[in-house]
Amino acid sequence: MSNAPLFIPVILGTPRQGRQSEFVAKFVVEQVAVREDIETELIDIRTIAISTQDAGESLKDPQFSATMERADGLIIVSPEYNHGYPGLLKHVLDTCLKEYIHKAVGLCGVSAGSFGGTRVIQNLLPVMRELGLVTIFYDLNFSNVQSLFDESGDLLDKPTYSRRFDRFMDELVWMSTVLRYGRQSVRVGQ
Ligand SMILES: Cc1cc2nc3c(=O)[nH]c(=O)nc-3n(C[C@H](O)[C@H](O)[C@H](O)COP(=O)(O)O)c2cc1C
Repeated sequence: MSNAPLFIPVILGTPRQGRQSEFVAKFVVEQVAVREDIETELIDIRTIAISTQDAGESLKDPQFSATMERADGLIIVSPEYNHGYPGLLKHVLDTCLKEYIHKAVGLCGVSAGSFGGTRVIQNLLPVMRELGLVTIFYDLNFSNVQSLFDESGDLLDKPTYSRRFDRFMDELVWMSTVLRYGRQSVRVGQ
């Protein structure tokens, strides 16, 4: 089995001007980058120019597709919009399919309310399954996000969130490692 570092990019799932989720995504990327055995990068969906004249794989962005192909796992940082996910996040995710299959995904919910994006995470789960991604059983929730960061975008209670992040990341690394082994060594069917 390849022992190259796992590649786990972080998708920032809203293009909104003034988005608080950007602070969360930056914190998550920073935390992933601390791990020497993991490579990561931030994918900001705002920077992916995808037409709205069509939907699905016909709109594939070559760079996004190549990054998904290379990824062993994904982290999606999504705000909760009316209990769901931002439409543009789904539009971007829908442009790939085979790139995701048998890869792990961890979900981070962000909300102004006190449930920490629990409802957006619940709504993302069936989408992840249909895309062929394998979800882990531990999520990250950022509730009352408007009060979590200082003016420079640093988390006020870093120790608490770093502890939660470590538990989440340990699980995602385990799942990404197992699935990499499976993709390389175990065939589907006869
Ligand atoms: C269209 C829209 C719908 C929203 N719906 C919810 C919601 O259902 N629950 C909630 O806690 N916050 C909701 N919010 C507030 C967001 O959670 C809040 O803006 C938070 O900062 C995360 O989103 P952001 O990254 O766009 O800032 C909504 C915001 C928008 C723009």
